Amino acid sequence: MSSPVALITGASSGIGLALTQHLLRKDYHVVMADINPPPASAQLPTARTLFVKTDVSSWDAQASLFSQAFSWHKRLDFAALNAGIDDRDDIFNSVSHSASRPPQKPNMATFDVNLYGVYYGTKLFAHYAALNPIPGGKIVITASAAGLYALPAVPQYSAAKHALVGLTRSLAPGAAAHNITVNCICPAMVPTGLAPPGLMEKFPKEHITPMSTILRAFDELMDENANKNGECVEAAVQDLFYRTPPEPMGESQKWMEKGAAEFWTETYRQRNMGFVNANSKP
Ligand SMILES: NC(=O)c1ccc[n+]([C@@H]2O[C@H](COP(=O)([O-])OP(=O)(O)OC[C@H]3O[C@@H](n4cnc5c(N)ncnc54)[C@H](O)[C@@H]3O)[C@@H](O)[C@H]2O)c1
Repeated sequence: MSSPVALITGASSGIGLALTQHLLRKDYHVVMADINPPPASAQLPTARTLFVKTDVSSWDAQASLFSQAFSWHKRLDFAALNAGIDDRDDIFNSVSHSASRPPQKPNMATFDVNLYGVYYGTKLFAHYAALNPIPGGKIVITASAAGLYALPAVPQYSAAKHALVGLTRSLAPGAAAHNITVNCICPAMVPTGLAPPGLMEKFPKEHITPMSTILRAFDELMDENANKNGECVEAAVQDLFYRTPPEPMGESQKWMEKGAAEFWTETYRQRNMGFVNANSKP
């Protein structure tokens, strides 16, 4: 068997670059997708890495990325859907208090990259994983602790990351039927290029999460023997906490979770496949 192939978005910096180097040490070939090239200082082996300049918020760019990634070694075993940005807008601090100056259409790039980019990546991975010599594969989405707790400083970011937690849990059962696992990590504060200047310096060292904890989370979610699916792992300082959804409270909510699941899924399966088929090129 040839070496497994991983595709990592946001691979040129921070978590994505550290994961690239980690997987190279484990004998993977790595497709690195990013809007920026990786730094020369990373000294990546050219035979085992393929950089594809990609804006993950573009469907066409990701479609081309996945096509190139699969063509490289005719397999795609793992995707880390990791690219992310923080907020590019403000609501309440920017109210003009002037009737003649209503707000302009906001910059929604945070949703485009952090949420749409991950959905596009999942859809494309499902397609190519089905073409693998042994169909199937693994996806790990980089959500955030801001997907578990509100983060008022960056509401678009927090909303998009909450959405990724819901997306992970909602996709996992359907993915399992195709031998695909979908899990996410929810890192606390990790020293990378994400935070704006000044923020990291203000952070007490004892609350900073080292990259080694993040890589341990990836290792656990990618472990062939553990077969984890639908897990959301909070990575904070040295700890990994497997977070579970809230318990249903009333009897009706308990029934909704268990008794309704099957006909709910079946009804939507037919309806939503109809939408996809109507959209497909003849
Ligand atoms: N650093 C943290 O404290 C922290 C905490 C929780 C979650 N995260 C998440 O981790 C992920 C990785 O971020 P990081 O901390 O390594 O930051 P980073 O800024 O160091 O790396 C992010 C990478 O994504 C790339 N990128 C940005 N927009 C892109 C786009 N449209 N298409 C393709 N690539 C794009 C950037 O060029 C960069 O290389 C993000 O999803 C982030 O939200 C980070």
